[in-house]
Amino acid sequence: MALWGGRFQGGSSAMFRQVNDSLPFDNVLAVQDLQGSIAWSRAIARAGVISAAEQSQLEQTLNELIALANEGKLDFAASTEEDIHSFVEAALIERLGDLGRKLHTGRSRNDQVATDLRLWVREHCEHLNQDLTRVIASLVSSAETNQQVIMPGYTHLQRAQPVRYAHWALAYVEMLKRDLGRLSDLTKRMNQCPLGCGALAGTTYDIDRQEIATELGFDSPCLNSLDAVSDRDYVLELLFCASTSMMHLSRMAEDLIFFNSGEAGFIRLGDQVTSGSSLMPQKKNPDALELLRGKCGRVFGHLQALLVTMKGLPLAYNKDMQEDKEGVFDAVNQWHCCLLISVEVIDSIKLDAERCARAAREGYANATELADYLVGKGTPFRSAHDIAGQVVLTALDQGKAIEQLPLETLKGYSELIEEDVYPVLQLEYLVDKRHILGGTGAKPVNKALDAAKSWLSQHAQE
Ligand code: ARG
Repeated sequence: MALWGGRFQGGSSAMFRQVNDSLPFDNVLAVQDLQGSIAWSRAIARAGVISAAEQSQLEQTLNELIALANEGKLDFAASTEEDIHSFVEAALIERLGDLGRKLHTGRSRNDQVATDLRLWVREHCEHLNQDLTRVIASLVSSAETNQQVIMPGYTHLQRAQPVRYAHWALAYVEMLKRDLGRLSDLTKRMNQCPLGCGALAGTTYDIDRQEIATELGFDSPCLNSLDAVSDRDYVLELLFCASTSMMHLSRMAEDLIFFNSGEAGFIRLGDQVTSGSSLMPQKKNPDALELLRGKCGRVFGHLQALLVTMKGLPLAYNKDMQEDKEGVFDAVNQWHCCLLISVEVIDSIKLDAERCARAAREGYANATELADYLVGKGTPFRSAHDIAGQVVLTALDQGKAIEQLPLETLKGYSELIEEDVYPVLQLEYLVDKRHILGGTGAKPVNKALDAAKSWLSQHAQE
């Protein structure tokens, strides 16, 4: 019989059960539900609702159920219970009879599910924190191995100015560090405990809410019972964290897909993260990267779906909110897998330093240097820009790089150009000239690499 069966004369229809039951997906909250139940049993014992002996019996059985859950031995598929909360209660009653029927005193599934989900989110924030750190570590080590490699940097997907590969990799480190920061902000904000808020109005039993909160690792109890049972901001925030981070991963994937293309040929990806074509024997497709890009769609969708579900919901709990779970479970799983596959992809990257440098040289990426050289000799920047543009046009016509044009040709555009222009046009020179903080020169890049490494070792200790 359902938990709420007393008031009913007829049973639920099969279709109602299919729409209403959440056990098929909320069973992943089993351990959290059992942990919350232990804390609740202690709270009602302190309030004098059950005796110390009864509490210890309940706690022992709940711990046995936790062990079964961890071993995957709770048979959810065979159960006809509505949700994880009724499943746990039924399991207690089966083992303890009337004592099992006492646990729910003063509690509602509304404060229960709100607590379970917070515990789940908090725990997964920790796992995701580790996953993000692993990607950062891979990027840092790839940057370090390929510290000398220079490749074209792009704007509008046109070769713009040369950059170090390490600088490119460290750009993603910055993004992922922000993703980590967002996760830890969320963890701080959500770390309040709903238990004791009952269905919506609080409970009449003498529950020490601070004590339950502390036992479950929360900083404090939620301060308003109506808000506590109907707040899903922390789920939305996690979905936003997942979406932003997936967006970062998709940009990295897109860059790497391009670097790996036959046209660019800057990198080669390992066999372990690519696949072949059923028809074309020569193909090696960057599937892992395409899926990183592709899976963004569903994660963004889960964020949008929950925002729409929550919009306009009256206080306090409404069953609509049961729809919060499948989306966040899937989003977290996808994000987790995408972070781990990113590690494998990055670790498999082999750079073709020669092709990178050639592409950087071929794209007239040193045209800005020529303009700056003329500025150094007193030409106003706008005129220097125009002269450099004309030189590029001539070089293009002749199928040459700027530095391959003889001095007489260059002098035809400005008398101020001398022999000393050639070293200025060299790739390493023009890259390393960008030694400003945050720039792509060897000095700032090495500094950024050192900073990233010490961040990593500090973060590992936290
Ligand atoms: N399965 C429900 C959910 O996930 C649990 C809360 C049920 N509360 C209720 N008043 N029916 O939201």
